[in-house]
Amino acid sequence: GLKKEAKGNDELMRSPQGKQLMRIFLAMTEMKKNPLKEQAKDVQTIGMLGAGFMGAGIAQVSVTNDIEVLLKDVDEDTIASAKKSIWDDFQRKVKKKAMRPAESEELITRVNSELDYDRFGKADLVIEAVNEDINLKQKILKETEDNTREDAIFASNTSALPIKRIAENAQRPSRVIGMHYFSPVPKMPLLEIIVKEDTAKWVEATALELGIRQDKTCIVVKDGPGFYTSRILAPFLNEALLLLEDGVDIEQLDHSMKRFGYPVGPIALLDEVGIDVAAHVMSGELMDYYRQRKGAKPSEVLPKLHEAGYSGRKNQKGFYKYDANGKKRKGLINKEIYEFFGNPVKKAYVEEEIQYRLALQMVNEAAMCLEEGIVQSARDGDIGAVFGLGFPPFLGGPFRYLDSLTCQRAVEIMEDLKKRAGELFEPANIIREKAIKSERFHDDYPG
Ligand SMILES: NC(=O)c1ccc[n+]([C@@H]2O[C@H](COP(=O)([O-])OP(=O)(O)OC[C@H]3O[C@@H](n4cnc5c(N)ncnc54)[C@H](O)[C@@H]3O)[C@@H](O)[C@H]2O)c1
Repeated sequence: GLKKEAKGNDELMRSPQGKQLMRIFLAMTEMKKNPLKEQAKDVQTIGMLGAGFMGAGIAQVSVTNDIEVLLKDVDEDTIASAKKSIWDDFQRKVKKKAMRPAESEELITRVNSELDYDRFGKADLVIEAVNEDINLKQKILKETEDNTREDAIFASNTSALPIKRIAENAQRPSRVIGMHYFSPVPKMPLLEIIVKEDTAKWVEATALELGIRQDKTCIVVKDGPGFYTSRILAPFLNEALLLLEDGVDIEQLDHSMKRFGYPVGPIALLDEVGIDVAAHVMSGELMDYYRQRKGAKPSEVLPKLHEAGYSGRKNQKGFYKYDANGKKRKGLINKEIYEFFGNPVKKAYVEEEIQYRLALQMVNEAAMCLEEGIVQSARDGDIGAVFGLGFPPFLGGPFRYLDSLTCQRAVEIMEDLKKRAGELFEPANIIREKAIKSERFHDDYPG
């Protein structure tokens, strides 16, 4: 038995997949260090605005790492239910002996319920996770500035609103930054930190230090529509919706992408994230930006589904069928939904075609983000896609994937797709250049 295990381990370590996983581990380890540590200010107390799903999660990862939280919402019941969800999670840990009962009791006392800003003078940094509404976010930024110290940082957990717009009327714009957590916060390892042009370096350093303390792997990205993660997710999901319009079967689509290595298919993901949330993210500035792209065909289906009351798993009305508890009824598709796609005649697609069409939309967009300096390095782009979006870890991320496929081959595939699926498959300049020069994104390939 031991011999077999050793042999299996040896094979895994030598396999291309094993190597990619090791590279991810090494990148993660490297990213535990803050290159700007010396400029970071100490954070002992954070103000948390919004005690909804994300606010509760951010509060939880903060108190578990010795940071006191002032948790503010509009009513006491919301704060109480956020505290209950944190407490319940602690008790699950206690049950598994991953936390001592006394520790759980001590930690929950560090979540303070606040209905006003009276104690916010104590906050070193304030994170907002109120509803995704630009006017609301601008309003609470003003309230925060009026009620906090001069040196307090304001961080937004917006999914896609440009930080620059949130900070439009800020009195201290250099102290405004984006801290984009992923749901569920206690489980998801990524934190995307968004710096706008005039965000002070010490503010970036402090947000990075806080993220590392909260046990997150952090990437620092430039402000822009959808930042990095939402921006590369949007064309991937859009392509999935276009394929449904073209007659691909929902199950075939999801199965194909699972076989490619994604943990869930794109359509199941839409149900999980919420069709309402996805419709919101895939609208506004992000989609305006995408629409300008040559050959862009933004699908109009999500807003229509949202209007018709489809929210996905949370209201048991989505692409799949759910029981009253929101549990997926195995393999059951909500066939009514095809009407929103114009009831197309079913078309059999070769699995590889589906996989390339979707994965390369994400990969190509990631390459454009690197070209534009939205992500600082191929390493960050890989980590962001793997940890934030479930890009197959054994492929190493979009840039490692391009390296193993080679940019020459990627250009060939995309040229071929362009003939069938349109100009949107035009390879990013950086991919074309690397193809011509036979270069790779990472120096250590094959390693
Ligand atoms: N849910 C996700 O998967 C996810 C992921 C990443 C980012 N986000 C972003 O995080 C933010 C919050 O999302 P959520 O899913 O937690 O929403 P949610 O609806 O669960 O929570 C929002 C909370 O904000 C509170 N609120 C509204 N106005 C307020 C005010 N003036 N002061 C204090 N609290 C106020 C609401 O009462 C509510 O409890 C949004 O910007 C969203 O885009 C969400």
